[in-house]
Amino acid sequence: MSNHFGGSWTFQKVRIIEEYAKAYLQIMKEYPYWKLMYFDGFAGTGEFQVKGKMNPSVFDDNTIGLFEGAARTIASIKEPKPFDMCYFVELETQKALLLRASIEKIREGGVYVVEEDCNQKILDLAAFLTGKRGEGGRNYKVLAFIDPFGMNVQWSSIEALRGLGVDMWILAPTGIGANRLLTRNGQIPDSWANKLESFFGVSKDLIYKNLYRETVETDLFGNTTTTLSKNKKALDEISRLYSERLLTVFKHVSNPYEMRNSTNSTMYHLYLASNNTTAVKIANDIVLKYNLKH
Ligand SMILES: C[S@@+](CC[C@H](N)C(=O)[O-])C[C@H]1O[C@@H](n2cnc3c(N)ncnc32)[C@H](O)[C@@H]1O
Repeated sequence: MSNHFGGSWTFQKVRIIEEYAKAYLQIMKEYPYWKLMYFDGFAGTGEFQVKGKMNPSVFDDNTIGLFEGAARTIASIKEPKPFDMCYFVELETQKALLLRASIEKIREGGVYVVEEDCNQKILDLAAFLTGKRGEGGRNYKVLAFIDPFGMNVQWSSIEALRGLGVDMWILAPTGIGANRLLTRNGQIPDSWANKLESFFGVSKDLIYKNLYRETVETDLFGNTTTTLSKNKKALDEISRLYSERLLTVFKHVSNPYEMRNSTNSTMYHLYLASNNTTAVKIANDIVLKYNLKH
């Protein structure tokens, strides 16, 4: 059993995280007193199976196969230095079992695999880093990777990371999630609106204000009708809004890497959020390189 998903964008996503992690670890070599943790909130099995054709700019042939996911890739890093600990969260028991077995083969010690909901574990991480829980404290620095399939990351979890030593790569389901819930005419069922509110961490009114246009028409007798229409560039606006939201928690946010499917539709945007300027500069260079591969 492996995780079945993706195409070449999945592969590229892992390359981005790997490239960034190596640059991060290189810099962190100068600060041996910090304990370094890799926190993977949606870790999977350690491997993923790519369905469909791979983008020829990534592979010479139309490879379809089994690849190392972020968890295995990051746990394997030895140079410039390994992470002191890797903390993996995977909700499904079977996948967590596979991941544990897989990681045991490549790394001894400092590995935690927990079968829980990522939102809870982000809150626990925040409590750990502020010294309120476990043996953590401000001497930890964390590289986090939050890689959900859908809209299951709650804004309240992200908010808990404010002011902490966390660099977070987060995959936001802008195209396959938010954009699909934002109906053309603005009539959004309550359950969808609740999802959108929890995803962006803002009220429904603010979502409307950012992503819809209001037109008021007055007829001959002075009666007015108000209609809502979805912004024509809704996807760009969703991505902008998400980036703005991240900037309320972190000091800096990178340009996003746009993950598109084989028909060139945008599915996700991947951002790095950090309180460190250099971190975001490095991320922007990496993102630019991979965006050019589209
Ligand atoms: C996109 S996949 C992760 C891929 C992985 N990052 C990689 O590089 O191979 C998402 C994973 O998150 C798990 N998952 C789904 N909901 C979750 C939750 N609320 N908390 C933690 N894990 C969850 C799924 O079982 C799935 O394995």
